[in-house]
Amino acid sequence: MEKEPTMSVSLPLAGRRALVTGGASGIGAATVRALAQRGAQVVVADRDGDAAAAVAADVGGTAWAVDLLEPAALEDRRLADILSPIDILVNNAGVQSISPIQDFDPADFRRIIALMLEVPFLLVRAALPHMYARGFGRVINVSSVHGLRASAYKSAYVAAKHGLEGFSKVTALEGGPHGVTSNCVNPGYVRTPLVERQIADQAALHGIAESEVLSQVLLTESAIKRLVEPAEVGSLVAWLATDDAAMVTGASYAMDGGWSAR
Ligand SMILES: NC(=O)c1ccc[n+]([C@@H]2O[C@H](COP(=O)([O-])OP(=O)(O)OC[C@H]3O[C@@H](n4cnc5c(N)ncnc54)[C@H](O)[C@@H]3O)[C@@H](O)[C@H]2O)c1
Repeated sequence: MEKEPTMSVSLPLAGRRALVTGGASGIGAATVRALAQRGAQVVVADRDGDAAAAVAADVGGTAWAVDLLEPAALEDRRLADILSPIDILVNNAGVQSISPIQDFDPADFRRIIALMLEVPFLLVRAALPHMYARGFGRVINVSSVHGLRASAYKSAYVAAKHGLEGFSKVTALEGGPHGVTSNCVNPGYVRTPLVERQIADQAALHGIAESEVLSQVLLTESAIKRLVEPAEVGSLVAWLATDDAAMVTGASYAMDGGWSAR
């Protein structure tokens, strides 16, 4: 008689400790789940403390209720305490603001650059000495197709993501000799609250109905005409954290339905 196949449980991230910023919603929450499913212990960092606690409870992780734009949250000693045990740092927290450059609120521009470029720098800066000491680290930056391509009305977002791409490559060069990799993932439009919030603004700016925004604005460049699912991005991030991806560094992985093939 043939033997029943045994279930093999694969936990490639067992023993690893991860921190995901913006981990309470959308891509961040899906990434928390993907990392935890593969065995990692995860810290969910988010300004929405209740949602962070709920996601953390789901996966047996811990929550860090933090507004990453509060200078006190990023004080050197505090960051060192939180980041010293972290092997896998996922820089994911992000916001969007859409407006023509001549009308773009400078305070909004600064806030976006701070959250999506300066905060990743500060977290990586605090995490690296400990990753170097252990000879292992994974920095995974949730960039965007807008780290590789531009769209009108998104000056701050596109500038921040292009900056993040450069910062990720420098981290890769400095981290390589110490067992630390750094990569970006570059999704097209993902089915998350951040995109849902954009639909009304895009409709107003382009003078079309909200129901037309997907086909006429968001998915025009994509060869595959659907939104990316958050779990698809989470799965790519989790793979980049594994030993299988040890030779992947300084790279940018598009998951954009073919947008950047143009
Ligand atoms: N949704 C998309 O289509 C898409 C595509 C490409 C890249 N991205 C990127 O993915 C990342 C996540 O986006 P999402 O769509 O999941 O968004 P989301 O709005 O669903 O989640 C973002 C999370 O970040 C948190 N956050 C925002 N500001 C914060 C702050 N100051 N301090 C702490 N936490 C803060 C929010 O509370 C929220 O939980 C962003 O960097 C975004 O640029 C999104």
